[in-house]
Amino acid sequence: MKKKNIILIGFMGVGKGTVARALVKKTDMFAIDTDDLIESMENRKIKKIFEDEGEPYFRNLEKKTALWLEKNVSNTIISTGGGFYKQENLNKIGKVVYLKSSFQGILDRINEAPNAQNKLKKRPLLQNIEEAIKLYDSRVKEYEKVAKIVVDVEKKDIKDIIKEILGKI
Ligand code: S3P
Repeated sequence: MKKKNIILIGFMGVGKGTVARALVKKTDMFAIDTDDLIESMENRKIKKIFEDEGEPYFRNLEKKTALWLEKNVSNTIISTGGGFYKQENLNKIGKVVYLKSSFQGILDRINEAPNAQNKLKKRPLLQNIEEAIKLYDSRVKEYEKVAKIVVDVEKKDIKDIIKEILGKI
């Protein structure tokens, strides 16, 4: 089976879900989100999973999700949680696209959203800004390493982002 999936990776709040939904409108592809899959599998929110079980348990669910995606999904735009890029089979699932932005650009994007507080609250690893910056710094190079395509999304119109992704794919 030819996979033909697109996997969107990048830091929390960079707009992976928004880009996935916009890509769906311009293609014949379907869209799914790894956090949504995990939440429905567990019947509880990511925040609750972290609180109840801790991060390693969540990372295991991500691994299970990655294996499932590789076996079962095609013609789909897959938006991922910010830590999903660590999955070893990422390149077997589909073409990896990294949505790149500075940390400040991400914070600005979140703060501009009408539901900014909710966007912050629901993310356990975004509760302490100093810690979040450290996490961002530890990941930026890794995102670039695993990606086939890098798209700078900071301060860019969604239409231009979509055009760039479809042009590079
Ligand atoms: C995480 C990002 C979150 C979610 C979880 C952990 C991370 O997804 O998977 O809170 O490790 O960066 P978003 O990138 O959609 O916020």
